[in-house]
Amino acid sequence: MSAPRGQFSSNIGFLMAAAGSAVGLGNIWGFPTKAASNGGAAFVVVYLLLAFLLAYPALMAELTIGRHARRNMVQALREISIGPISRFFGSLAGFGGILVASLILSFYAIVAGWMVAHLAEPFASLFGASGAVEWLTGNSTARNLTFTAIFSGLTMLIIAAGVEKGIERWSTLLMPSLIILLLLLIAYVLTQPGAVTGLEVYLMPDFSHLSPKLLIAAMGQAFFSLSLGVGTMLIYGSYLSQQESLPRLGALVTLIDVGIAFTAGLLILPAMYVAQEAGTQIFSESGELIAGPGLILQVLPALFDTMGTAGLFVAIAFFALMVIASLTSSISMLEVPVAFTIENLGVPRRLATPLVGLIIFAISSTIIVNFDTLFGLVVSISTEYGQPLLGVALCVFAGWIWRRDQLLAELKKGHENIEQTLFWKIWPWYVRIVCPLLILTAFAQSVM
Ligand code: TRP
Repeated sequence: MSAPRGQFSSNIGFLMAAAGSAVGLGNIWGFPTKAASNGGAAFVVVYLLLAFLLAYPALMAELTIGRHARRNMVQALREISIGPISRFFGSLAGFGGILVASLILSFYAIVAGWMVAHLAEPFASLFGASGAVEWLTGNSTARNLTFTAIFSGLTMLIIAAGVEKGIERWSTLLMPSLIILLLLLIAYVLTQPGAVTGLEVYLMPDFSHLSPKLLIAAMGQAFFSLSLGVGTMLIYGSYLSQQESLPRLGALVTLIDVGIAFTAGLLILPAMYVAQEAGTQIFSESGELIAGPGLILQVLPALFDTMGTAGLFVAIAFFALMVIASLTSSISMLEVPVAFTIENLGVPRRLATPLVGLIIFAISSTIIVNFDTLFGLVVSISTEYGQPLLGVALCVFAGWIWRRDQLLAELKKGHENIEQTLFWKIWPWYVRIVCPLLILTAFAQSVM
């Protein structure tokens, strides 16, 4: 019944797609905002530690299970199970992943839609269409529905084209452009007054800021940023050829993701202080960062305005960058339910994509219409509860349920001498014990 499975045509193709999934609004918007509101450099240090010590091992669990099973999360977890009970929990976690991936996409598409609207705004300005400018930057339901629809449509077009022609081709094109744009913007912003204060906050740690709240924020950010828990990386792993070394590719993806988040901080934090220098209020009297989701959308356009006409082009570059980063991430989320629909329900890709895409768009629309009650709730349920809990499930499957000899055999493909490496000496125990305990401890604290 199953349709022929797609596969990435090259190492680079997989790397671009997986890094493209990881790098998104979470890096350029989420990470710098969280760093700014959790004590700057202290948060950055904890985040870096957690990314390598917690998120990387969890990423390896997903990639290895995915490449071994060559199936979506539901079937993959069932396949490595040993009896009816673990099979049941495998299905449960798999469906949980599909649900959470869809929920994450439903709010992600809204925020990405804002980015598309802000990309359109400078064009309207150039043509002197002031009514359009107001509509594009105002927060009306009509605007949000329109641009979420546009963004969702783009996501569906790429996914309908499949793994090699859609996901791989677009990621390989979009990822490098993103890095170049980012570097150019940093070079620009660092010449502006106020930028150095931002750099200091970002780079000089003051460890008196350490707190459980900071720890949980950093862990959640690491999980979100590496697209973990919902089967995104599992499904990308399932399209990966067996000639590649998984630990190496996983490490590269982690490095790229962390590297771009860190680089984005070099842009956003200085930009915040430049905006402050120019008269925009970014911190309240009590020292709290004012805008959450609104930060980039208030502070940065204000910053671009101070640049005169050149600011219009900088704004175009910046929001183009945001849209690009969001697209390579949203396609990886949509692929999760789409792969399930193709493989388990036997629906062809070209039909499965609009079907699933429209359901998720319906959820997005519901959130838009009830924004104040639903937006924060969906973000919190999916990223603060769903992702960490599913992450624990994946680590338990990789560490306790899956037969160790099969796990080793899978990792040996593309990495002959894996048994002699530090990776094999540490990682199996690490996903077994340290990862679940760390996640559950942090999770318990956040619930209490
Ligand atoms: N990691 C992406 C970002 O930082 C978002 C993302 C893509 C994601 N796929 C995911 C988050 C799966 C959670 C789960 O923007």
